[in-house]
Amino acid sequence: MFAKETFVIIGASQAGGWIAKTLRNEGFQGNITLVGEEPYLPYERPPLSKGALLGEVNLESTYFWPEGSYLEEKIDVILKTRVTAIDRAEKSVELDNGTTLNWDKLAITTGTRVRPLDAAGVELEGVHYLRTLDDTLKIREELSPGGTALIVGGGWIGLECAATLTKLGYETIVVEYADRLCSRAVTPEISNWMLHYHQSNGVRILLNTGVKSINGGDHVESATLSDGTEVNCSKVVIGIGVIPNTELAEQAGLAVENGILVDELCQTNDPNIFAAGDVSNHPNNIIGKRLRLESWENAMNQGIATGKSMLGKGTAYNEIPWFWSDQFEANIQMIGLPEEWNETATRGDKGKNEFVEFYLKNKLIVGAISVNSTRDLRMAKRLMQAQKEVAKHDLENPEIKIQALLKS
Ligand code: APR
Repeated sequence: MFAKETFVIIGASQAGGWIAKTLRNEGFQGNITLVGEEPYLPYERPPLSKGALLGEVNLESTYFWPEGSYLEEKIDVILKTRVTAIDRAEKSVELDNGTTLNWDKLAITTGTRVRPLDAAGVELEGVHYLRTLDDTLKIREELSPGGTALIVGGGWIGLECAATLTKLGYETIVVEYADRLCSRAVTPEISNWMLHYHQSNGVRILLNTGVKSINGGDHVESATLSDGTEVNCSKVVIGIGVIPNTELAEQAGLAVENGILVDELCQTNDPNIFAAGDVSNHPNNIIGKRLRLESWENAMNQGIATGKSMLGKGTAYNEIPWFWSDQFEANIQMIGLPEEWNETATRGDKGKNEFVEFYLKNKLIVGAISVNSTRDLRMAKRLMQAQKEVAKHDLENPEIKIQALLKS
């Protein structure tokens, strides 16, 4: 009788969790071990800056699956434990508790960590980053509404936090380095809409501005901005981007370049090692280049694709990137990564915060961003997938349903 195979997954988060589940769903009967440094079972991050921060959802509701389901499916979960090294020759990993695990196949889903703010005073009480469930719990523990919250970074995390903390009763100020909001992800038109939307909800936005220092005794009392002005604040939340956790892969000699390089089967340059989620960099044929996506949907779908590939049942992972965010009463969704276009079509009413903006290159949709218009965005995704030529005036005409364009 053959010994059972063992698959080890480094990183017990969304991608890692989905790999483990997929292995079982696909009938794998070998051993599965999921190793994670956080004290929690795989959980979803989107609520951390929204519902969980508002206090509307509890901790367990962020878990993908309850503890019992890991027991039932015989998935060993080792929490509060870091993998300290990968030995490819021995096919093992070393853990920070001194033990070693052998594997036949390995998946790396180590995700990202927050980019640290280079300013004096970041260690003061009341200064937070927001990436993990513990970060959210800490911010909630120390809420003192009525004060001023300074948000460093006007990207997804910063803007979601600004909305949530405003709702919780803080005066909020967003300090953004660049000359527009969310510039890494959205087009200038949408940055502009975001600026007005947040301002109309009472958020003060300071563009082209950084933070020189955060000041106070034990607790933050103020911050000195790059233009020398000092603003009083009782809380600071920093959201200035993330860095992929590629060190283990690099030390093991795997190919790394803005994430761990994988092929369309989520396989690294070692055929027995795979990588998925925020840490992986995959070739995307739809977008026509390599991508490292920081997205909820990618973590799940690439995790599922990786699980199948580990069992030799993989198909090329190729999806149109999709992101979403909730800020105040706006549900913002985005497909594609619009970088180059020669036409823009706006459907709906920007002034009423209900619209889709389409970006077209030679009549093909290369991306779209919607606010409170989920249905139209979903149809736009299908149009993009089908590589269907569309006319600007049809997209803008409210009398024409987007789904009708799919059939035309
Ligand atoms: N001071 C002010 N702003 C800064 C500074 C700085 N020192 N450094 C960077 N920024 C700004 C960037 O210009 C950018 O607009 O911070 C913003 C960071 O935005 P993102 O790159 O979107 O990163 P973040 O909001 O931290 O989100 C990180 O978490 O949930 C996920 O989808 C989210 O992938 C994203 C990740």
